Amino acid sequence: MKSFFHVQDIGDLGKALEEAKQVKATPFAWKSLGENRTIMLVFFNSSLRTRLSSQKAALNLGMNPIVLNIGQDSWKLETEMGVVMDGDKSEHLREAIPVMTSYCDIIGIRSFAGLTDREYDYNETVLRQFLEYGGKPVISLESATVHPCQAFADLITIEEYKKKSRPKVVMTWAPHPKALPQAVPNSFAEWMNAADVDFVITHPEGYELDPKFAGKARVEYDQMKALEGADFVYAKNWSCPGVTDPSGYGQILSKDMGWTVDDRHMAVTNNAYFMHCLPVRRNMIVSDSVIDAPTSLVIPEAANREVSAQVVMKRMLESL
Ligand code: CP
Repeated sequence: MKSFFHVQDIGDLGKALEEAKQVKATPFAWKSLGENRTIMLVFFNSSLRTRLSSQKAALNLGMNPIVLNIGQDSWKLETEMGVVMDGDKSEHLREAIPVMTSYCDIIGIRSFAGLTDREYDYNETVLRQFLEYGGKPVISLESATVHPCQAFADLITIEEYKKKSRPKVVMTWAPHPKALPQAVPNSFAEWMNAADVDFVITHPEGYELDPKFAGKARVEYDQMKALEGADFVYAKNWSCPGVTDPSGYGQILSKDMGWTVDDRHMAVTNNAYFMHCLPVRRNMIVSDSVIDAPTSLVIPEAANREVSAQVVMKRMLESL
């Protein structure tokens, strides 16, 4: 595996889920695979789960992880080509990438969407430069448009908790005070479309995801109707993807607190499990009562980030 951005990169989903089970049961069974191998984890943005789960997964495989926080541990990096570098950015990605990859065998990148230039974000301009100039396998640790390690962990969690072979999974938009990227909902939609689930997306009008990710998913604008009979409720905020109105890209179109997932919403489900990738704003995205209920999967879901990361790194090590 040379890159991990999309669900297609993992190949057969059934096999990947089986491998995840094995990795979870015996995390240290491949300790020699990563011997004398180094993974560099590069963060342009903050992280708790991705940083820790990636380091832990690398250590389970016997690899040496190096974590670099751009702008804190390193020089500030310029990411756009052709600019006169007379500002506060001292080094260009064009040099920094081959330097970083000269010290490692695999590289993981966290680089969020800027949410101002849709074309720049949806072309994955930063991630693509790592592919082009790095020459090493690249993992998206949440880039401008995708968060595949999260979506894989979400699928592993659904597989573990599902009570029927084809559960109903509803991804619902929920309010947030800040404009957030679409990477998590994009990847969740992409992975659910590839999995054997009845997948529904619900959001206020204007929040339609890019068709490349929404695919065949059913979109229901009435949140309560969408949630009826759900087995899993996946809450997430995202800003305007700019599909129906490109000028709205990255903007907040609604702060309707009626969309906050609370007991009223969960009451119409099939005693659904609640999921969220975290970090979560309590009583904005979800009520305390729902996230604190025994049906909340937010902690097992976060724990499975170690498993998804380890499967991906294992596959990459095996193909070096
Ligand atoms: N879910 C997730 O990616 O968490 P972090 O942003 O803390 O890494």
